[in-house]
Amino acid sequence: MTPNEDGRAPHVGVVGATGAAGGTVLRILEERRFRLAELRCLASARSAGTTLRFAGRDHVVAEVSDESLDGLDVVFFAAGSSTARRYAPVVAKRGGVAIDKSSAYRMDPAVPLIVPEVNGDQLASHHGIVANPNCVAIPLTVALAPLHRAFGLQRLTVATYQAASGGGRDLVAELREQEQADAAGQAPAHRVYPHVLHGNVVPGGWTMHGDDTDEELKVIAETRRVLGIAELPVSVTTVRVPVATGHSAAVWAEFDGPVRPEAARELLAAAAGVRVVDDPAGQRYPTPRDATGQDQVLVGRIRADIGRPGAIALFLSVDNLRKGAATNAVQVGELLAAR
Ligand code: A2P
Repeated sequence: MTPNEDGRAPHVGVVGATGAAGGTVLRILEERRFRLAELRCLASARSAGTTLRFAGRDHVVAEVSDESLDGLDVVFFAAGSSTARRYAPVVAKRGGVAIDKSSAYRMDPAVPLIVPEVNGDQLASHHGIVANPNCVAIPLTVALAPLHRAFGLQRLTVATYQAASGGGRDLVAELREQEQADAAGQAPAHRVYPHVLHGNVVPGGWTMHGDDTDEELKVIAETRRVLGIAELPVSVTTVRVPVATGHSAAVWAEFDGPVRPEAARELLAAAAGVRVVDDPAGQRYPTPRDATGQDQVLVGRIRADIGRPGAIALFLSVDNLRKGAATNAVQVGELLAAR
């Protein structure tokens, strides 16, 4: 069953509602006036009994369990892979749809990996679980899909500048504490991340797979899957920067033939989910601060790649909690509800 099959408003759950991404799902459901008959806020036993504000009312948080998912039509999962693996199949088995932000199902061929602006047509193939890509793969594919459709993407090089909130609310709190310690002339401490993040740039902190971070491998695999280019050569280095919210990426893209920056800019200006901010002489280009609170991917610095004639260089910023996670998931929920 899909939500709204019989015309009624869906019963909606958010697992991980107390977290950074889950909290943003609540805000976006409110903002977009997602029609729902019920909202159930679920998390771990740690926060059961606390309350969260939604649509002007306090909602008591319950511990997620098989029973707590009973009767839900759409459940947004923002609580990590093990929770999704344990409970998303329960939702699917009971006839609902789980929309999962974790990496648990992203490469499962039976689970569609959806960015609505790019491959929303693949949503129909779901069997009760839909995966949301990684917070870098989402903006990358939103920006690259229109260029790929027009010019045929051949090769991609990416360097990321990723915000603390991608590492969870505890890393954001740690960054704030470090900022205060530095301002007070004290030595900043770290527990959550392997390095002090404030005043620093850290090319690690993710789990390593050989010489690569798992974040790098996710960006490669998921970008290929969403764009539908199985063998696309992708080179990527992921880096954490001392920004609370807003991921950015420097991108170099090569196509079947030479592409003029003006042609790329024109396509991107008309692309769904993209806002071109590109007047470098006037100091206008994407920044994470400007991306924060927005649902569009900001794209700018669109130019010829001097090092590879015919290729395009660009810079993008995205609100990693919104389009990089929650907005994308809520858009998937909207597509399901509309069907
Ligand atoms: P809780 O508040 O009970 O810890 P973030 O990514 O910002 O750190 O948030 C993680 C979210 O996932 C929180 O809402 C957290 O709930 C939830 N969570 C973490 N582990 C579990 C679990 N085992 N079962 C249910 N929810 C979990």
